[in-house]
Amino acid sequence: MCGIVGILGTHEVAPLLVESLKRLEYRGYDSAGIATVNDGHLDRRRAVGKLVNLSDLLVHEPLAGKAGIGHTRWATHGAPAVRNAHPHRSGRVSVVHNGIIENFRELRAWLAEQGLSHESDTDTETVAILANHFLAEGATPEEAVELTLARLHGAYALLFLFEGQEDLMIAARKGSPLAIGHGDGEMYVGSDAIALAPLTSRITYLEEGDWAVVTRAGASIKDSAGRLANRPAKTIQIDSAQVDKAGHRHFMAKEIAEQPSRLTGALDHYVGEDGAIRLPGPGIDFSTMDRLTMVACGTASYACYVAKYWFEQLAGLPVDIDVASEFRYREPPIPPRTTALFVSQSGETADTLAALRYCRDKAERIVSVVNVAESSIARESDLALPILAGPEIGVASTKAFSCQLLVLGLLALEAGRQRGRLDGAGFAEKVEALRALPGLINHTLSLTEDAGRIAAQLAEARDILFLGRGRMFPLALEGALKLKEISYIHAEAYASGELKHGPIALVDKAVPVIVMAPHDELFDKTVSNMQEVMARGGPVLLITDRDGAKAAGHGVWETLVLPDVAPLWAPILYAVPAQLLAYHTAIAKGTDVDQPRNLAKSVTVE
Ligand code: G6P
Repeated sequence: MCGIVGILGTHEVAPLLVESLKRLEYRGYDSAGIATVNDGHLDRRRAVGKLVNLSDLLVHEPLAGKAGIGHTRWATHGAPAVRNAHPHRSGRVSVVHNGIIENFRELRAWLAEQGLSHESDTDTETVAILANHFLAEGATPEEAVELTLARLHGAYALLFLFEGQEDLMIAARKGSPLAIGHGDGEMYVGSDAIALAPLTSRITYLEEGDWAVVTRAGASIKDSAGRLANRPAKTIQIDSAQVDKAGHRHFMAKEIAEQPSRLTGALDHYVGEDGAIRLPGPGIDFSTMDRLTMVACGTASYACYVAKYWFEQLAGLPVDIDVASEFRYREPPIPPRTTALFVSQSGETADTLAALRYCRDKAERIVSVVNVAESSIARESDLALPILAGPEIGVASTKAFSCQLLVLGLLALEAGRQRGRLDGAGFAEKVEALRALPGLINHTLSLTEDAGRIAAQLAEARDILFLGRGRMFPLALEGALKLKEISYIHAEAYASGELKHGPIALVDKAVPVIVMAPHDELFDKTVSNMQEVMARGGPVLLITDRDGAKAAGHGVWETLVLPDVAPLWAPILYAVPAQLLAYHTAIAKGTDVDQPRNLAKSVTVE
């Protein structure tokens, strides 16, 4: 989703702004722009499409100045067009924005009554016009921003730059995150620390409702009540190498390949040498818990659906799951002794955060499983468990999914132990089986060539079905999501037992059906459903293990044979071929793997 960057520098900032915006590309965008103030004059350049278009424009029409702001826009109000691209400008004010100003129509009408008109279709321009209006009435930049913020409803991260002010940016956060970076005689603002990683590692995160007056000497931050707020700077560790492709063609390929080492790191973090699971602080008391409510979006929600099987089977713990956008408006009752668990890679997804806030005074405890340890969701939880996947840049989530599954699997084991469902030996055996996963994934990665060959044919399809049963059903959902996200092929997933209740009507020889079926207790049943597909001419790709291939590999279109894995943890291993198939299908179709159209990595609007 929209990316923001701002620099009060000691050198020309245009190239640095573009470089920082590049580091925000992963969030998803469809236009970009920068504005600077030079010799007192505000000016801007904006271009639709990839950043390279903005860079080209800057070659022909350079932008001088040592103070500037930049933006990558993911369209919400108004089509991706130059007139809608940020920075927006009104008179002496330039502004960039992430979020949605919900009352912009009323504000627009009010401004029209004052004789002030808009050039764009955006909610953001309204902010610039308002601030400029207050300046024109004699307010200082700080006063103008304060008056403007008081009129805004909705969620935003905003960054203002002013004509005539070469040592001033004003940043405001409500709903969408913003980080302030401290340099040597320079100051920065960014949507996240990744954007600022090459510039500084000293970061101050604005809290909800904060706004900050930033000069080269530092930042003065006020809270939502207008009081000066002391927000300490932290040194964060995002080394630039972590956000490089490290020789891979795409971030997604790198992130798929990193899974063994990331999972090993997470296992070392959470499992002690004695084999016990170590959770921070007081940990989680599963023994007195009546119910676990899990809430997430997208891939993270499929991790929750897999985990539901684990919590129920291993710990007898009832689990409710909902996607955050539904949960937050349903007003679900939260019975006493419920723990609410939120799963999010970014920790900033607007719906998940809102769902967390809904549970704040209702659930006994708020726990989150996040990748970005400094995120809003982590900070607003009673207990935040990092998944330790490292920065995930590819929009389609891969290593975050497997690391989410790992942490949730460990929690389910801990719940089973505490609730007396797992004895010492059963617990230890399952932990050992988890430890085997990085090695098994390494083996599975060698299927990349087979996946490439099969994907060349999948790329010809218009529709693809995924089937799975039990723990493999949510994985089928994730496989279909991965494929449609990056290859734009229509893909659906069904619990294989549901096939005959409707979806089987879709089966014909042009619709490949991908069946995820390790040789487990449900294998025979899944295979029966697979036979129903084959009987109707549907080409089947069977993803299974050696025994599965032996038992049911005859007559299928293709087989991918994975190493044997403890059935309980099969979803973690089987995520890998699903990722490889999606990746290679996207390559075959020539789509933009890391930044697929219309998608955003971190969805900070509803
Ligand atoms: C976006 C991303 C998905 C992700 C979902 C939830 O839609 O494109 O990959 O699964 O948001 O994001 P979160 O950061 O909360 O896990």
